[in-house]
Amino acid sequence: MKKIPLFKVFTNKNKTLKNLDKVLDSGFINEGEEVRLLTQKLEKKIGSKNIVLMNSCTSALTVAYKLSGLCEGKNVVTTPMTCIATNTPIINLNGKIKWCDVDSYSGMPRLKNIEEKVDKNTVAICLVSWAGVPPVDLKKIFNFCKKNKIKLIHDSAHAFMAKLDKKPISNFADFTCFSFQAIKHFTCGDGGALICKSLSSFQKAKKLKWFGYDREKAKDSKGHWKNQQEADISYEDLGYKFNMNNITAAIGLANYESIDAIIEGHRNIAKIYDEYFFNNALLCPISRPKSSEPSFWVYTLVLKDNRFCSEKLITDLNKENIQAGKVHIPCDEYSCFSNFKTSLPGLREFNRIQFSLPCGWWIKKNEAHEIAQKVLKIISQKI
Ligand SMILES: Cc1ncc(COP(=O)(O)O)c(C=O)c1O
Repeated sequence: MKKIPLFKVFTNKNKTLKNLDKVLDSGFINEGEEVRLLTQKLEKKIGSKNIVLMNSCTSALTVAYKLSGLCEGKNVVTTPMTCIATNTPIINLNGKIKWCDVDSYSGMPRLKNIEEKVDKNTVAICLVSWAGVPPVDLKKIFNFCKKNKIKLIHDSAHAFMAKLDKKPISNFADFTCFSFQAIKHFTCGDGGALICKSLSSFQKAKKLKWFGYDREKAKDSKGHWKNQQEADISYEDLGYKFNMNNITAAIGLANYESIDAIIEGHRNIAKIYDEYFFNNALLCPISRPKSSEPSFWVYTLVLKDNRFCSEKLITDLNKENIQAGKVHIPCDEYSCFSNFKTSLPGLREFNRIQFSLPCGWWIKKNEAHEIAQKVLKIISQKI
């Protein structure tokens, strides 16, 4: 079998070069027409309003935490089973992390894990749709947040175009963050988006992404500077330099037309894997809500038989040219988070038994069958 990578960069090369040519000739390479156009198109595609394009998902998360009121003395109850980027903004904003444990069959927190950790200084809960699969309790957790006046931040870096109850995933949080980084479903090279449930947060986010300036007032209808921005910025309103620029937006616009085909490519391969793994006695895909349409950035499985761990299986699959892997190291293992150590048995178990298979448009249907059969063969040889 030829080597099947876990991730692959999608680019529409000719369109990208054409778009970049136009941007470079325009002499206007920072935030302008291309960013405005991509924002409009993504609003339609994702089915959400109040979208602010930024230079990364990490930036979008930072703004979401800041808008939730995170500062010294306050905390976020967050998942450790994610990319470091989900949680570094919390300590960069001088907030405290309260790790909540995860369910060992999904790698994501359940409502009870969260309820145990929330205290009077909690301003936000952060969840991640691991591999593009929404957390089983997402709706319950959003209701819990509303009831307790805590913000829900949903790091949907893996979950672009995922749905729940046929609705966009961004319907189920105060803040939803997407990543358009190189190896995500839809790439701008680097980039991200923040979707705000409330209009007032949206207005603030637009300012925070550019030092705190109200750039709308200083732009013409095409998004170009009309005049020099002169307004004052108070300490409370001080923001960041997090905006998306026309170069990365031009790359995104070139890939935009392919979004549906890309997502369909991921879902079609997942459907084939489901046939093999859904009712298997030895392993199963991570739990997903019944009414969800995950975007399957990768396809994550857990081993059911607790005599086995996934490490050896990954090594064997790699030998067969199938680039399986664990994707992220649990965050609590990084020493930058050592102040927040706590017992997390569900996390330890999930990380022991989980592994992800490549799942995307670059895999042919017959290769997906071959991958699934190889996984089952390797496992059965170990029993
Ligand atoms: C779960 C998760 N959150 C956030 C990020 C950060 O995204 P970005 O590189 O766009 O900042 C990543 C990147 O891989 C991720 O996997």
